Amino acid sequence: MSKKVRIHHFKEMKQRGEKITMLTAYDYPTAKAFDAAGVDMLLVGDSLADNILGYESTGPVTLDEMIPFARAVARGAERAFVVADLPFGSYEVSPEQAVESSVRMMKLSGAQAVKFEGGRRVARQAKAVTDAGIPFCGHLGFTPQSENALGGHRVQGRGEQGVKDLIDDALALQEAGAFAVVLEMVAAPAARAVTEALDIPTIGIGAGSSTDGQVLVWLDMAGVGDWHPRFSRQFGAVGAAMTDAAAGYVKAVKDVEFPAAEHTFEN
Ligand code: KIV
Repeated sequence: MSKKVRIHHFKEMKQRGEKITMLTAYDYPTAKAFDAAGVDMLLVGDSLADNILGYESTGPVTLDEMIPFARAVARGAERAFVVADLPFGSYEVSPEQAVESSVRMMKLSGAQAVKFEGGRRVARQAKAVTDAGIPFCGHLGFTPQSENALGGHRVQGRGEQGVKDLIDDALALQEAGAFAVVLEMVAAPAARAVTEALDIPTIGIGAGSSTDGQVLVWLDMAGVGDWHPRFSRQFGAVGAAMTDAAAGYVKAVKDVEFPAAEHTFEN
């Protein structure tokens, strides 16, 4: 195993221009596979709400539902740095609520950091969390937990004011002690401006190639499921491979070709 990725490595990677790789992961085998592939950071995103639990959006998932998934990922990650999302409703009320939820997530899951959405409006929460000694990753741009307030899936950081707002939000999170900021569905010029304005790394998803790193939802990246966002690329056809494997199994059992002699205990 190569050296465990630590929080200070991300700033060093930004400084030397090495791109940071992040993928979501929601369970032990996936975490192990991505860890072995050399992914730097695994995100137990609240996207597990729709991708794994079948909710319509990220809104309904709770902290208690997320913790077992985060624990499984942390067990599977030997090298990668594990970040766990705080879901909607678990940090917005007050800095105290954010610290309580973060401590609970860290203590019960073994993740190395937490992430939650928002800029200046959650800067007090971010500061309280980092003051409590918990590494914090920000999330700006299109923030799925605020989908209703944002009027749907809309690209953020458009126009002069859009860029300025994004930079001010990102600086507030950096000031609060964030070690990185995810930029989701952000116009590329705005993502570049934020990346240049910050000392800490930006991790983009649908934010162009200028960010210090990239993150994708693993099912989109691996080709599982029917719908994939325009900003994602399918690096595999894992969904089709799973269906093929299951169809092969069904056929072999129906044909009484499996189990064969080598799978059978005669006595
Ligand atoms: O929950 C998630 O998967 C995320 C990524 C889209 C960054 O927050």
